[in-house]
Amino acid sequence: MNALTRSDGSARRLWVASSGELVDGAFTRVEVLFEKAVSSVIVLRHDGVCRAYRNRCVHMPRELDCEANTVFDRTGRLLRCSFHGVVYDPTDGTSLSTICDGQRLTAIGVEEDEHGVWLVDKRVRTLASLSGQPPERARSR
Ligand code: FES
Repeated sequence: MNALTRSDGSARRLWVASSGELVDGAFTRVEVLFEKAVSSVIVLRHDGVCRAYRNRCVHMPRELDCEANTVFDRTGRLLRCSFHGVVYDPTDGTSLSTICDGQRLTAIGVEEDEHGVWLVDKRVRTLASLSGQPPERARSR
């Protein structure tokens, strides 16, 4: 399954995974251009619902999985940045930790149909949409 793209190269729908690959409590990373910067997006399923967030902590510009191979905490019920441990509500990306109380991960549009899970967000483009211009490097790593 490929990304369906507009004539300007932006992704109308960017394929992520089949529904069976993204079971409850699982996540995957998708490398994309987000507002012209190379970035990653985490796509997860929580309580049966797929959600996607830019993989960038609100505390510092680090990816949530920068020090671990997961974006969930030990319970599997909350998201957790592996760098300093800020915890997020997976349903809306809100920080539940004191140091970044109320700040939110950047939500990315996601939808699921009979073919699987897709990113659907005008700010997101495929890396293949690069046209010889060096992208801005995300500062997350
Ligand atoms: S960088 Fe994520 S908790 Fe500090």
